[in-house]
Amino acid sequence: MAKLTVRLDDPIATISPMLYGHFAEHLGRCIYEGLWVGDDSPIPNTRGIRNDTVAALRKLAAPVIRWPGGCFADDYHWRDGVGPRHQRPRRMNLWWHDEEPNHFGTHEFIDLCRQAGAEPYICLNVGSGSPEEAAGWVEYCNYAGDTSRARERAAHGHPEPFGVRYWGVGNENWGCGGRFAPDDYAREYRRFACYLRGRGRAIELIACGHTGPDWNRTFLDTLGDLNTIDHLSVHRYIKCGDAVDFSDTEHYNLYPRALQVEADIVEAATALALYNRTGRHIGVIVDEWGVWHPEARGDSGLYQRNTLRDALVAAAVFDVFNRHADKVTMANIAQTINVLQCLCQTQGEAMWLTPTYHAFDLYKPHMGNAAVRLDLDDVPTVEARGADGRAVALPVVSASASVDEAGKTAVVTLQNLHLAEPCPCTIRLRGGSIAKATARILTASDARDHNGPDAPAKVKPKRFKLDARATTLRAALPPHALVSAKVSLR
Ligand code: AHR
Repeated sequence: MAKLTVRLDDPIATISPMLYGHFAEHLGRCIYEGLWVGDDSPIPNTRGIRNDTVAALRKLAAPVIRWPGGCFADDYHWRDGVGPRHQRPRRMNLWWHDEEPNHFGTHEFIDLCRQAGAEPYICLNVGSGSPEEAAGWVEYCNYAGDTSRARERAAHGHPEPFGVRYWGVGNENWGCGGRFAPDDYAREYRRFACYLRGRGRAIELIACGHTGPDWNRTFLDTLGDLNTIDHLSVHRYIKCGDAVDFSDTEHYNLYPRALQVEADIVEAATALALYNRTGRHIGVIVDEWGVWHPEARGDSGLYQRNTLRDALVAAAVFDVFNRHADKVTMANIAQTINVLQCLCQTQGEAMWLTPTYHAFDLYKPHMGNAAVRLDLDDVPTVEARGADGRAVALPVVSASASVDEAGKTAVVTLQNLHLAEPCPCTIRLRGGSIAKATARILTASDARDHNGPDAPAKVKPKRFKLDARATTLRAALPPHALVSAKVSLR
């Protein structure tokens, strides 16, 4: 019997809703078809933006959308995407072997964010761009005065500034974003930040970090003055076995690779603690994360089927984010629609939700709550291997918990990742007693199950019965199942 003790009286930090964010790149069918269909499309849309996918994002209270890339960002010139749509240039999409019609640009992105109820986060072009181009984009979006750029925005239909708060200073600048060495990126970052910040703007800048200590530490050391940074980003992609035809061993081995994100966060936060003498909190943003299966590697649109296994792994990653709510300021899954570990998939007019969408939905009640510490005891383990080949005793239960500001409702999310064995659990609440508990479960007859145009709701959450008494919940978790419990406290 696995034992969880939820320490309601031992808070970690507020779980920023931004930890449940999204990333949408001009790649495959994410923007074009997934989000943008054009206002002359037979697919129901609002000013060209697809209604069904946006409604799905709105239902999740999607907090933020990062755009336009990804690798695409460092070859994107924002002027190509403003002004009358039919006059916009058609360009090569360098990284994703495609052509870019520029029908979806800054105004369409802001419209998408407003329709979805999300904050816009724009990634600037450092690799092939200039500080002048980047600062000009910030001015175009955010300036309220009477400059040519502000007038141009007004002429394009938006007299009011967009107020974009989050700006990424390049993407993967150690790779597709210019192949910089970390010290060269630091010099470049300082130059960009000088012109981005120099206009007295209420914006937050995200510097490009990396996994492992070398890049982050050399970058921060060379940068010197960390007053120019608000967040440092890391990316984590998780790979092991086929999207659907994975073996049981590959299922278990996916977890140590996913949990690597914890080391990424801790390493980035440690590097920041070493070099940050500003007295300000500089957060870690997991700007891109998710499973990346071989199926996507064989497709230039990075399309892959998404199974229940992917949703379970996403939940284990959410548990890491919740546990590190004091360090992580944002996290964005790659990528929202039709690409990699997406939340929605489309085929022409058809749209269906992936199991990962439902994992987001089950974790939604944590947003804005205080994460609290929990102890896991007597949890059975299975043998797994990390990417380095080392054996790991993987606990079959992953969990996280939070409590709302008023201290009236606790949220406990937990999964049994074992493919065959159920896991009976007791969940003891320390520092509160239970008035009422309700729960939902996401599971299926096989962890390989997924949704598609012919079976759009094969994997979806259902109500789940918990036994609630005084301070203890009891649940028999079925194999490969994720449960989200809402507990009203006395
Ligand atoms: O998400 C796909 C790609 O993965 C992004 O463009 C890039 O940033 C990362 O390498």
